Amino acid sequence: MRKQSSSSSSMASTKLTLLLTTFLFSSLPFTFSQAKSSEDSEPYVGVNIGTDVSKLISPSEIVSFLQAQKISHVRLYDADQDILKSLARTKIRVMISVPNNQLLAIGSSNTTAASWIDRNVVAFYPETLITGVSVGDEVLTTVPSSSPLLLPAIESLYNALVSSNLHTQIKISTPHAASVILDTFPPSQAFFNQSLTQYILPLLQFLSKTGSPLMMNLYPYYVFMQNKGVVPLDNALFKPLTPSKEMVDPNTLLHYTSVLDAMIDAAYFSMKNLNITDVVVQVSESGWPSKGDSKEPYATIDNADTYNSNLIKHVLDRSGTPLHPETTSSVYIYELFNEDLRSPPLSEANWGLFYGNFTPVYLLHVSGSGTFLANDTTNLTYCIAMDGVDQRTLQAALDWACGPGRANCSEIQPGEDCYYPNNVKNHASYAFDSYYQKEGKAAGSCDFKGVATITTTDPSHGSCTFPGSKKMSNKTKQAVNSTHISGAAERSRFIAFSSKELVVSFSSLLFFHLMTPC
Ligand SMILES: *[C@@H]1O[C@H](CO)[C@@H](O)[C@H](O)[C@H]1NC(C)=O
Ligand SMILES: *[C@@H]1O[C@H](CO)[C@@H](O)[C@H](O)[C@H]1NC(C)=O
Ligand SMILES: *[C@@H]1O[C@H](CO)[C@@H](O)[C@H](O)[C@H]1NC(C)=O
Ligand SMILES: *[C@@H]1O[C@H](CO)[C@@H](O)[C@H](O)[C@H]1NC(C)=O
Ligand SMILES: *[C@@H]1O[C@H](CO)[C@@H](O)[C@H](O)[C@H]1NC(C)=O
Ligand SMILES: *[C@@H]1O[C@H](CO)[C@@H](O)[C@H](O)[C@H]1NC(C)=O
Ligand SMILES: *[C@@H]1O[C@H](CO)[C@@H](O)[C@H](O)[C@H]1NC(C)=O
Ligand SMILES: *[C@@H]1O[C@H](CO)[C@@H](O)[C@H](O)[C@H]1NC(C)=O
Repeated sequence: MRKQSSSSSSMASTKLTLLLTTFLFSSLPFTFSQAKSSEDSEPYVGVNIGTDVSKLISPSEIVSFLQAQKISHVRLYDADQDILKSLARTKIRVMISVPNNQLLAIGSSNTTAASWIDRNVVAFYPETLITGVSVGDEVLTTVPSSSPLLLPAIESLYNALVSSNLHTQIKISTPHAASVILDTFPPSQAFFNQSLTQYILPLLQFLSKTGSPLMMNLYPYYVFMQNKGVVPLDNALFKPLTPSKEMVDPNTLLHYTSVLDAMIDAAYFSMKNLNITDVVVQVSESGWPSKGDSKEPYATIDNADTYNSNLIKHVLDRSGTPLHPETTSSVYIYELFNEDLRSPPLSEANWGLFYGNFTPVYLLHVSGSGTFLANDTTNLTYCIAMDGVDQRTLQAALDWACGPGRANCSEIQPGEDCYYPNNVKNHASYAFDSYYQKEGKAAGSCDFKGVATITTTDPSHGSCTFPGSKKMSNKTKQAVNSTHISGAAERSRFIAFSSKELVVSFSSLLFFHLMTPC
């Protein structure tokens, strides 16, 4: 659903998706219930990673970061060998992908499909916990000429997995753009674009037969942007609503408080129209940009934070959708890193939860929702000296920190990495951060009589690494070659977002309007 990148960089255009993977459903046909016993069956939140990042960090550092953030499921937009290697013997589950440009080869040759599985799955499994293969991305809408090859490619790959006896552990599916579904609102009237049924119906039958999910890239942000004044912002952002603001489906009388739930149920109704009732929806991409140009006034840090925080809570609350309260779709947040190399509009470069150097763009508000990201994001904080404070108070605080406070001040001694700039403020910042980290960021440990402040921006500079960033830093945060794979071709996965399609898809959004008493 992202706009095509026009980045001319030859590297870093590989897409990886980090996600908290594993599919949700049991293998029993015609049951919708999730296996209760295994932790693998819990709905999860994952994070997509794009790598159009100017200073991309090495695979091993990315993996350390994932572990620190307790991100336990990963999806790559390809099958980067270095990342798969780095993920070995971690508990991180990974879904790998077949880029669109490989569909032709794989869809037309069983041998090619088998060798793809050998090279990218069998060679790593089970040391690397590969849990899924997503085949192509938004193929039916992005590269319609490849549509006839999609199912053959999926089937060939599946057959190769069967030969290796890995088909029960590793699921195969393909992500769709939201625009394959028409008349999403009200959800009960939604249906798959009939011109695509010839591909979608057999695909759904395959998913049903193999217990695989229907993957959908769903962006309430775009629905909202294309239907301003019709879709209330609060519905798009999962904010708690007064009953009068809930959307009511006139056919089912189901109440919708969020656009995402309506989109998910639209997918269920669309499948039901084709008599498919046992395939679970998985949201392969969803998110909200934190910054945009003048035409994107709703791309703000607050909205992005609200959307993603509420999205995480929504999944972890396991409340399902109005139509299927028993089934909560897993969601992969788009995306882990801001991709600064992406071309305008500005929002394109601002979908990330983190900057490419691991600094959070904003702190999610998900405390109480378990272990994912919430507190760990908040952990990426540092204590530094405030600007414009009295030098003598600062000096006294520095002396206290390095003395009685027992901060580790060795790095600010002459000749050490953090000695320069040689001034009280810099030295105090280092000492404060050392103390703060040593105290486990306890409340009150970043005060120093009011001359210290907490920041989420890593104060490290040059070769000087601050105590709070030590765990992640590897001194050389240089762009690395190792994540460079099928860059150029991969870029083609991004369909230009077609506002026309959406307007058509959501023309019956008037329903919101009609159902919302003034
Ligand atoms: C730092 O980089 C070195 C060399 O590239 C690598 O061997 C090491 O594992 C890295 N450390 C971390 C924590 O990523
Ligand atoms: C691949 O194998 C399947 C099942 O063995 C067979 O039906 C199909 O025709 C083969 N496809 C190609 C392109 O050889
Ligand atoms: C349905 O799909 C066809 C084929 O891709 C496309 O040409 C058409 O515009 C789509 N219809 C709508 C209403 O989006
Ligand atoms: C779905 O089932 C109904 C009733 O059995 C049947 O009339 C209809 O043709 C089926 N539709 C498809 C797409 O199979
Ligand atoms: C996250 O923070 C909340 C509130 O401070 C706390 O209740 C919860 O236990 C924390 N979770 C983790 C995993 O530390
Ligand atoms: C102080 O920091 C330096 C540099 O990071 C480190 O080498 C040293 O072991 C630390 N000393 C103590 C007592 O932790
Ligand atoms: C976050 O900080 C708390 C308090 O210092 C610590 O107990 C916890 O282990 C940290 N989490 C991570 C992922 O580092
Ligand atoms: C990166 O890879 C390219 C092509 O594989 C190679 O020409 C270049 O020297 C590499 N750069 C580094 C820094 O390794």
